[in-house]
Amino acid sequence: MTIVQDVNLLEEIKTYANTQGTNYPIVNSYNEWDPLEEVIVGVVEGATIPDLEVAVKATIPEDQIEYFQKNAGKKFPQEAINAAAKELEEFVNILEGEGITVRRPDKINQARSYGTQEWQSKGGLYQAMPRDLLIVIGDQIIESPLAWRSRYFEIFSFREMLKDYFKKGGKWVAAPKPELPDHFYRPEYVSTGNDDEYAINEFEPTFDAADFIRCGRDIFVQKSNVTNDFGIDWLARQIGDKFRVHKLKFTDSHPMHVDATFMPLAPGHLLLNPERATEIPSLFKSWNIMYSPKSTLPKSHPMYMSSSWVNMNILMLDEKRVVVERQEQPLIDLFKKNGFEPILCDFRNFYSFGGGFHCATVDVRRRGGLQSYV
Ligand code: ALA
Repeated sequence: MTIVQDVNLLEEIKTYANTQGTNYPIVNSYNEWDPLEEVIVGVVEGATIPDLEVAVKATIPEDQIEYFQKNAGKKFPQEAINAAAKELEEFVNILEGEGITVRRPDKINQARSYGTQEWQSKGGLYQAMPRDLLIVIGDQIIESPLAWRSRYFEIFSFREMLKDYFKKGGKWVAAPKPELPDHFYRPEYVSTGNDDEYAINEFEPTFDAADFIRCGRDIFVQKSNVTNDFGIDWLARQIGDKFRVHKLKFTDSHPMHVDATFMPLAPGHLLLNPERATEIPSLFKSWNIMYSPKSTLPKSHPMYMSSSWVNMNILMLDEKRVVVERQEQPLIDLFKKNGFEPILCDFRNFYSFGGGFHCATVDVRRRGGLQSYV
């Protein structure tokens, strides 16, 4: 036997970093605010109404339940998709104008049925919210084990870029693919908003990456209708003891994704949802706490999948520059008063699909290393 090659990517990582004029690997992000160099932005074309699964019903606005029931597997209204897609283009232009590299997933037709040996789904959902699918912690990019059957194959739209990151030295990891059997779901569950009960049980690990927020060594997570203790334990063990994972509990009767509830903006500055964060998490007692004003969105604006608190779902380009929805004047004023520099972008039509700027992105590379902030 002869050794034909020593497999070691370190040289490749160095080469990539040098050509970019930085000293970081291609995948490198420890928090929500270090200077942003490369970001994935979703696409909304082809967005499809998902089956009214137990964990979907537990999270969408109640006035949408009948609409989902009747229309599962069909596309969302084309004019709503077009308007959201236009705003995403504006967002991409802004990011590129700030010198940030933007990557987009492939557009995959979601309006096709699929299944496993245990279950069938009338279709997929979209590839608009990469924040749910992928989390970067340090130099690893990790695929989430999603709890919605309608999102089972969503990650495939991102695989070309994940393969490319890997080839350029990135560490690419996927959590165990969940089985999502019927007995994983709890259709009988009714939330009170304050209990520790959810629409899923602990049969297997699941999480949406958007239930996690990164603050250097300290990672914060909420349990939700898609994220269970088993999933949190899996992620904590995967990232290892360089990191401390803290569970937070908020008052929320439809918990799913913590980034419209709890948003650390920069060292010492925390944006909180005043309805859900009725207490300041203990590690943040010395921070400047900013309570988000309510959204200026009119009540008549269609919101298929989330509350209007997605106004506080912002993206930090560094410790000062923050991308905010153009019409959210009270929030823009709050940022300015606290020394931030808002960059305005239309995003109300994208909100209709359940997320803001944080949801629509994954920050693959920020300039910075591992530090403690709390
Ligand atoms: N699911 C979160 C909310 O509705 C984004 O506020």
